[in-house]
Amino acid sequence: MVVRNNEEFQQSIHHFIPDYIAEVTDLANRSMTESYDHKVIMDAYRNWPEGFLMGLHGRTLTGFIAGSKFMRTEARILLLAVDEKYRRLGIGSALISRFMEICRQNGFMSIRLEVRTDNTAAISFYRNHGFSITATMPYYYSDLSDAFQMWRLL
Ligand SMILES: CC(C)(COP(=O)(O)OP(=O)(O)OC[C@H]1O[C@@H](n2cnc3c(N)ncnc32)[C@H](O)[C@@H]1OP(=O)(O)O)[C@@H](O)C(=O)NCCC(=O)NCCS
Repeated sequence: MVVRNNEEFQQSIHHFIPDYIAEVTDLANRSMTESYDHKVIMDAYRNWPEGFLMGLHGRTLTGFIAGSKFMRTEARILLLAVDEKYRRLGIGSALISRFMEICRQNGFMSIRLEVRTDNTAAISFYRNHGFSITATMPYYYSDLSDAFQMWRLL
């Protein structure tokens, strides 16, 4: 059982292992409205392996986060998803906290991301982690729906 915010749980955040490519791609496609294939996920990993983390419960994937280096001082969150069965247990928080720690260690001063304007769960989640809406990006997604850009200083 995943236990919220305790030592046992913290130890289940790992760097992405390419053996999990099928599970990560499947979770991305179940959780987000855009579609992703192995190549897109592997490209994100190869571009910045340290910025790609996953949560495991035993050997079962619970969630993942993939980031990229956007500018010299700014990182981006490209993808973040927690399996529906494991939501509201603090796994997303553990992933983003570790990701922010890695960003600080790499000298980044801020993080940026895009989120659908109707994704109220993710917007609350990101606000809870210190992000604010800085812009609206019309027709950002392939179905032409809008995105908010969210940003925080580290
Ligand atoms: C957004 C997401 C990653 C959050 O993961 P999670 O592991 O459930 O998040 P946590 O348990 O760490 O939640 C931390 C806080 O975020 C907020 N939050 C998370 N889910 C929420 C929801 N459905 N509604 C409102 N607030 C929510 C709450 O403040 C929560 O704290 P609380 O549980 O003490 O109230 C998850 O809902 C998800 O995978 N969604 C689908 C994919 C997605 O939208 N990704 C983001 C694309 S940009």
